[in-house]
Amino acid sequence: MKILSIRILPLVLVFVWLLPAWADEAALRQRLLLDFGWKFHLGDEWGLSQQLDKAGVNPGPAGRAFGDAHWRTVNLPHDWAPELPFDSNADESHGFKPVGPGFHSNSVAWYRRSFRLPEADGGRRLTLEFDGVYRDCRVFFNGYFLGHHESGYSSFRYDITDLANNGGENTVAVRVDASQFEGWFYEGAGIYRHVWLVQTGPLHVAPDGTFVYSQFARNLPEGPATICVQTLLQNDENSVVPATVAYEILDPNGKSVERMQKTRFTMQGWTSQELFQKGIVPHPALWSPETPNLYKLVTTVSRGEAVADRTETEFGIRTIAFDAEQGFLLNGRHYEIKGTCNHQDHAGVGAALPDRLQYFRVSRLKDMGDNGIRTAHNAPTPELLEACDRLGMLVMDENRLLGSDAQNLDYLEGQIRRDRNHPSVFIWSLFNEEAQQTTPAARRVTATMQRRVHQLDPTRLCTAAGNVSNVFQGVNSVLDVRGWNYYPEAVDAYHREHPAQPEIGTEQASTVCTRGIYANDKERGYVSSYDANAPPWATTAESWWKVFAARPWLSGGFVWTGFDYRGEPTPYGWPCISSHFGILDTCGFAKDNFYYYQSWWSGRTVLHLLPHWNWPDRQGQEIAVWAYSNCQEVELFLNGRSLGRKAMPRNSHLQWTVNYTPGALLAKGYDAGQVVAEQKVETTGPVAALKLAPDRASINADGEDISIVTVAVTDAAGRVVPVADNHVEFDLDGPGKIIGVGNGDPSCHEPDVYVAAQAGRTVALRDWRVKRGASCPRPAEAAEKVDASQWDKADVDSQDGPLRPEESAVFRTGFQATPAMLAAASVSVNFGMIDDEGWVYVNGHKVGESHDWTAQPSFPILEYLHDGANSIAVSVQNHEGAGGLNKGAFLEIRDQPAKPQWQRSVFNGLAQVIVQAGRQPGTVALRARAPGLEPALLNIVAGAAAARPALP
Ligand code: GAL
Repeated sequence: MKILSIRILPLVLVFVWLLPAWADEAALRQRLLLDFGWKFHLGDEWGLSQQLDKAGVNPGPAGRAFGDAHWRTVNLPHDWAPELPFDSNADESHGFKPVGPGFHSNSVAWYRRSFRLPEADGGRRLTLEFDGVYRDCRVFFNGYFLGHHESGYSSFRYDITDLANNGGENTVAVRVDASQFEGWFYEGAGIYRHVWLVQTGPLHVAPDGTFVYSQFARNLPEGPATICVQTLLQNDENSVVPATVAYEILDPNGKSVERMQKTRFTMQGWTSQELFQKGIVPHPALWSPETPNLYKLVTTVSRGEAVADRTETEFGIRTIAFDAEQGFLLNGRHYEIKGTCNHQDHAGVGAALPDRLQYFRVSRLKDMGDNGIRTAHNAPTPELLEACDRLGMLVMDENRLLGSDAQNLDYLEGQIRRDRNHPSVFIWSLFNEEAQQTTPAARRVTATMQRRVHQLDPTRLCTAAGNVSNVFQGVNSVLDVRGWNYYPEAVDAYHREHPAQPEIGTEQASTVCTRGIYANDKERGYVSSYDANAPPWATTAESWWKVFAARPWLSGGFVWTGFDYRGEPTPYGWPCISSHFGILDTCGFAKDNFYYYQSWWSGRTVLHLLPHWNWPDRQGQEIAVWAYSNCQEVELFLNGRSLGRKAMPRNSHLQWTVNYTPGALLAKGYDAGQVVAEQKVETTGPVAALKLAPDRASINADGEDISIVTVAVTDAAGRVVPVADNHVEFDLDGPGKIIGVGNGDPSCHEPDVYVAAQAGRTVALRDWRVKRGASCPRPAEAAEKVDASQWDKADVDSQDGPLRPEESAVFRTGFQATPAMLAAASVSVNFGMIDDEGWVYVNGHKVGESHDWTAQPSFPILEYLHDGANSIAVSVQNHEGAGGLNKGAFLEIRDQPAKPQWQRSVFNGLAQVIVQAGRQPGTVALRARAPGLEPALLNIVAGAAAARPALP
């Protein structure tokens, strides 16, 4: 037996520990969520909007003074693609959303967020962290360009310490350009993962600077575990500092089990230093999907006697290895991967998943007996890995693209450093189905990537998802572990010819099924849910699993896919907009294949019958009835009459041909001759009522938590009507909101998201007067009532202002506010240009300042208005050249947004509504109604909860 590598075990590092409040001066490290209250604008009116000749003066929305008051307010994570209508001319593989090549005006958007920072305090370092933006974004901070990040999947960060306005306003602006694709599946558009502001002291642990893993003698989890810690420390100050680093390990119950220390070393100013330390956990509680035990490493950095930084890193202790004969070994024993590949979108929200949805999805898969996820085909969001660590799910963590160029290696390196502490991650996948995979160049590139991964993480091996048959040349000749996408008929020959190379099923099945449909229907875009259909390169569920279940050296494998996803609507195109590959649909409702896998994967007793039993048009006709079960025998009854008892073949199903007559199908499952399970499928009555069932009826009022509500149409007896397609309307009251709806229908073109329509109009400001002067600002001449009738007339619409170099002036005009204007949601005053600096007053109240002649400033003014005549005055200071008030001035009035009318049809009896808590505790009442059906009311309690630290 040849055990390949992996002498060490990794752990999870979550660098999150943050002392609670922004205002707390004692806080050393803070990681503040920067998700709430972004301004959003879809459109590319300003182009790249980047000034290359001078720093810090970027124009338009990239600049600091740009007026965004009239832009829509959104919270992150945000994906704007679900807000667009479906379009049959758009890209099929991306789900027919008009975004990407050919749809430029829908593909570029700006996000802006302003926030105050406290006064400068002792050289604090500030970093903006982006977990993921789709894609090609340019980030600006206080008018400065921070960087350009192309990948839509990798995380990135910028140090903003030098540019921060401590004690004042700061603005981050992000231009997102989704007009190119990175994949061939739905990818979303926007800042679809979290953004953070991280604050540390000058002496601190570097970002992703902790790596913690464990080792056992002979890589067998017996006896004590050695905990290896690698810390990258950074000293961002001028002085040489005396430093100490102390470590403490807490067990899963929070009990301290080990302390280690690196004492008194000196660090030169502006240097970093890597430290290595070892500790012992004598009786470790091992991590596995069945026992997701998590330890915590607390790292405390001191400068002299004073604590300078403190981080907490969750980790797990386990051993992993691959063996060419025994396959994957977890904690010293063969462990079969019963996994699913998944993209990252969900019904309702697109790619912008609230964290809780990650837990929901992982839990749905675990319920099936799934113990592994492949993050196809990109670096995952960090919260998915946290959910996998905590709930117990192995992860094949996949990189997007084959490449040993600097940029691709950089993305890969960032992914490894970020993810290498997670115990859930058991292998890295370097790429998927690369067209060049059999070439010598791809072999060399793969070798370079793999070498880099091993340098950064000596604890794990690499594979890649290869869609080639018995082919060894190219990437397969260098990969640690051969990955099999399809070709189950070729595995034996390959194994015979390359007996020393471990193997794994990176992607199998691609079986196509539509939930609750039992005949193919090309016109409507539905595929039968019997396990019978697969595209030419793929197989049924039963046929691939039988091959893998019989060959331990294959390590098990990953089904394409766990959940349906938008795009790739195989085997049909339009009107289909999402895939049929999922074992669950886009909402997470189970298709019948769920129970096939559950029978053979979960270890629990399972018995499931298909199809449903509502066939009024098929009276007396033959219908195939299938049973999925892991019982030794199953007996089927129709309306009390036995149709025969059959032995269940392993990893298979049973089938009866039944002449349809309405009533009840009943299955009994037997083990050793005893009934151990029963399952009934009944003909239902007509549709009668709506039902709402939450996954959780109590959620946290933290502005992030969600309840995932199942909407069902039932008959009078409360049974879900499996063919119902009623159109349902939703209403919500209380401190929460609906953020998305779905129904799993791969051909449904109803919106997933309803954006409140908000009417707006502009009113040009005319009849300006100007009075020149020598100083600025001049509040007396900007007071509410000033007689300006004798001042000179001013044309504020011209290209250049009337002022000479270093001249100042006050410009004034007036307007009538109507009751409609006073009842609006917002009123702003907007200027084409205030050249060079301006102080703006409405009715004598200062509403804002502008110190950037390139800005198009905009100030909210509603609170200063009153019925009748109102005045506006701008005190302007010109510097060089011509200046003043020019390029137009106008009011923008935005009406109160209409309450969005959320609605969705059920598909085969079911739909889903995702309700998100606000930040006020209370009861959220969700109502559902549909013509002719008894309505439903669901109360969700949003309880007071400590929200995580966030920027206000
Ligand atoms: C694979 C590919 C996946 C998906 C799948 C559909 O070849 O890796 O991304 O396209 O086919 O069957």
